[in-house]
Amino acid sequence: MSIDFSGRWAWADVHTGLIQHNVAIVAQRVAPAQVWAVVKANAYGHGAIPVAQAALAAGATGLCVAITDEGVALRRAGITAPILVLSEQPAEMTEFLVGYGLTPTIASTRGAAVVARAAEAADRKVPVHIKIDTGMHRVGVAPAEALNLARYIQSFESLAIEGIYTHFAVADEPSHPANEKQLSVFNDVLGQCAAAGIEPPMVHAANSAAALANPDARFSMVRLGIAMYGLLPGPGVAEQCQGLIPALSLKGRVSAVRLVEKGARPLAGTITMDQLMLDCGNDFDVTVGDEVVLIGRQGEHVVTADNWADALGTIGYEIVCGIGERVFRRYQ
Ligand SMILES: Cc1ncc(COP(=O)(O)O)c(C=O)c1O
Repeated sequence: MSIDFSGRWAWADVHTGLIQHNVAIVAQRVAPAQVWAVVKANAYGHGAIPVAQAALAAGATGLCVAITDEGVALRRAGITAPILVLSEQPAEMTEFLVGYGLTPTIASTRGAAVVARAAEAADRKVPVHIKIDTGMHRVGVAPAEALNLARYIQSFESLAIEGIYTHFAVADEPSHPANEKQLSVFNDVLGQCAAAGIEPPMVHAANSAAALANPDARFSMVRLGIAMYGLLPGPGVAEQCQGLIPALSLKGRVSAVRLVEKGARPLAGTITMDQLMLDCGNDFDVTVGDEVVLIGRQGEHVVTADNWADALGTIGYEIVCGIGERVFRRYQ
């Protein structure tokens, strides 16, 4: 007997139609650049498989994930679109990268050799993307070593350089000089590669903020994360994000109402892992079963993940990614 677990005190509503709306808006703004949807971290808490399906239906032509297992889960769900894994993976994951047709990121000769061997063993030619560290200092080969790495990759019959890319550290502050600096380093690497006859079809640098704020950063594709979910990459790009709509609401229901004595009030707001107590003041209309909107709209009132982020001194990414697995996702 299958059990319907959808009856919950708390749940998240994910509106895949709004994911599609957001992807379509960005796709139109960045065209002719392609949009690849970033669905790592369970699609920023929204659910990787339904979000990937919605993004692809709305015009995204590829997907990006952070780790191998995220890509494998998408393949097992029947998704056949290209899936780029955004950093080099531990060597023991290589057979899964190759076996499931995921696109590896290469940032070192060691990484290239490991993927090349697995591709050879599987009798496959594997497309790879080279990641250049133009200034974020997280993932990537140093610009001065990029051309040598590209040549090294070319020396393997089993590898094909499909892409070259980088990532901005502060794209959410479009006027920050680091963006121009990173772009110029990236263009320099592209120039060196082109002069050596290496001109891969996919060149990319932009996350949501750069895709929307900087046309020079779009190249042949953009990697769209936070804006696809309808959230702000940062206050510096609020204007460019107009028209995007948050796709996730977090809701609960009142499970009990207590009349407490004066003095018990400091407990209000305390989170006890699964539940929280709210002070409803003198609103005696509140009853068990009433809907409580933690993120989303109720009548005229709207609370966004970005509002929570402001209140908690963090960013919207952390709020939605922090909604635990046990919160049931309802898709509409
Ligand atoms: C390499 C890379 N590209 C793109 C993205 C998407 O960024 P955003 O969510 O700001 O669009 C991320 C997310 O962290 C990333 O790590």
